[in-house]
Amino acid sequence: MHIDPLEKKWGYVILAIVGLLTAIIVIDALVHHINPPSHVETIDSARLHLSEEFAEDNLGVQVDDKGNIMVRIVAGRYGFYPKQVTVPSGTPLTFRWASMDVLHGIHLPMTNMNTMILPGYVAELKTDFPKPGNYPLLCNEYCGMGHDHMWANITVVAKEHWAAPVKTTSKGGRSHE
Ligand code: CUA
Repeated sequence: MHIDPLEKKWGYVILAIVGLLTAIIVIDALVHHINPPSHVETIDSARLHLSEEFAEDNLGVQVDDKGNIMVRIVAGRYGFYPKQVTVPSGTPLTFRWASMDVLHGIHLPMTNMNTMILPGYVAELKTDFPKPGNYPLLCNEYCGMGHDHMWANITVVAKEHWAAPVKTTSKGGRSHE
């Protein structure tokens, strides 16, 4: 079979592009831990405020008895609650997101924080901010007229300057006095 040399050349170019894209996906997954969400956990979105975990008092940053830092944020038209959290740099963090109404999304550029927040599900992400700074966070799924104004702010401070909130939680997200 005769293949025109020019056609062959373009064939190689296409193979190189496919190889490059595959390499980007593999490197992102293995090195940067950017993966599709795989954590499936359901929750009753209409009763979030009555749930133990996402009740108003339990939102924001909490440290459990083992010292694990957990951040819980509720997304609802048109805001994130709480709108601002402060976390330490260079520390493993677990973020748990829940929607109180419709589909929302979050994306923090240059981090693995990228997920949809589906009503009825808890979106859980583990991340670690290497550097202190201000990380503005926007809703990235169209959720209605106020979508453009739906944002939150994650402030990352140096580990040694971060103080755990006074409120602590026992396992299971229950607050106790
Ligand atoms: Cu919430 Cu767009």
